[in-house]
Amino acid sequence: MSDDAELRALRTAVGAQPDSVDLRLRLATALASRDHHSEALEHCTAALGRDPGNSQAVTLLQQISAALAEPAKPKTGKQNFDWSAAESEVSHLIEPAFVQDFEPDPVIEGAERPTLRLADVGGMAEVKQRLELALLGPLRNPELAKAFGKSVRGGLLLYGPPGCGKTFIARAVAGELGASFYAIGIADVLDMWIGNSERNLKEIFAAARRNAPCVLFFDEMDALGQKRSQLRNSSGMRNTVNQLLNELDSVGNNNEGVFTLAATNHPWDVDVALRRPGRFDRMLLVLPPDPPAREVILRYHLKDRPLSGINLDVLVRATEDFSGADLAHLCESATEQAMADSIRTGTVRPIGMPDFTTVLREVKPSTGPWFTTARNVAMFANSDGSYDDLLKYFKASKK
Ligand SMILES: Nc1ncnc2c1ncn2[C@@H]1O[C@H](COP(=O)(O)OP(=O)(O)O)[C@@H](O)[C@H]1O
Ligand SMILES: [Mg+2]
Repeated sequence: MSDDAELRALRTAVGAQPDSVDLRLRLATALASRDHHSEALEHCTAALGRDPGNSQAVTLLQQISAALAEPAKPKTGKQNFDWSAAESEVSHLIEPAFVQDFEPDPVIEGAERPTLRLADVGGMAEVKQRLELALLGPLRNPELAKAFGKSVRGGLLLYGPPGCGKTFIARAVAGELGASFYAIGIADVLDMWIGNSERNLKEIFAAARRNAPCVLFFDEMDALGQKRSQLRNSSGMRNTVNQLLNELDSVGNNNEGVFTLAATNHPWDVDVALRRPGRFDRMLLVLPPDPPAREVILRYHLKDRPLSGINLDVLVRATEDFSGADLAHLCESATEQAMADSIRTGTVRPIGMPDFTTVLREVKPSTGPWFTTARNVAMFANSDGSYDDLLKYFKASKK
């Protein structure tokens, strides 16, 4: 092994076990013997910080300080450090460091660590406040929460019309918690029963625990309810569902740093078993973006486009009940309009208000049918008060 390779091996080992005083001292010794005194000092100090009374570290520190005080002098004598012994001692440490750095967890694909924060979510002050009170506050201040007898047991079920920011908000929650974010479609989980479903589910939760803190986000929560008839006929699927419920219960008290969030467009189809205490027993209504949210979304979709005379206030007022996805579609259509015109006339012209006026005649909010169903549920199927938020909304908006 060359000198450089030896240093690399030791640096990697220290990287993998930054708290190992022994490894730090070996690296510091190796660096000092090559006259890399300032880097040696860094590691020696780190070792002393972790073990202040370590006599080897104190001696080494004295040597390094002396060397740093003197001009560089030719090295004398041979090194008496046993490099092959050191190499074999650390060889088992090297591989894991690389595996962790470069290979994503094979069990959960698409895991990410969102940098998105609640501040990136436009408007929706009430949703943010509810998240803060129900989840983020207690998690950030566990002692205070305990003093108030406030528990963060169980998960939160986000519901509302499609394309209105449920997934977006769930990612922002992970961002706020500095947690990894795994999105799992319930339909996919249920389809697992064909294979080794119970094992797969176990692996998903095990991976989440390994990667804690982590937000496990279950999308399309209603898929389970919709498959209820299939559920009755298939013991395989029943086992999968039971397994899912068990796993949810076991991470439910958040002791392990696995936080569960779920989303659905049709909460009324969500299986009651999933809504039991400690599971997804709290609901959070995510309505179509309010005016400040619409402004943020419109700005985002128009930011890199040629614009002229755009009045955002007018657009915001003209797009009530538009979902985030509808707003994206609106901006896309206005852009196409301006482009088609540019091609026709042979002169490039920016996107202007007339383009929006034209496309607003065609593009309508997609949330209408959802509100129709939701109103019926709020009026006629709200005996347990689950949909009081919806009821309040309908009353206030006179819809
Ligand atoms: N309040 C908001 N602030 C900023 N962007 C938003 C907001 N609400 C929705 N969006 C945008 O709308 C898109 C669609 O939302 P999404 O979370 O996928 O909807 P859902 O999960 O409810 O179907 C998001 O990717 C995001 O770009
Ligand atoms: Mg979604």
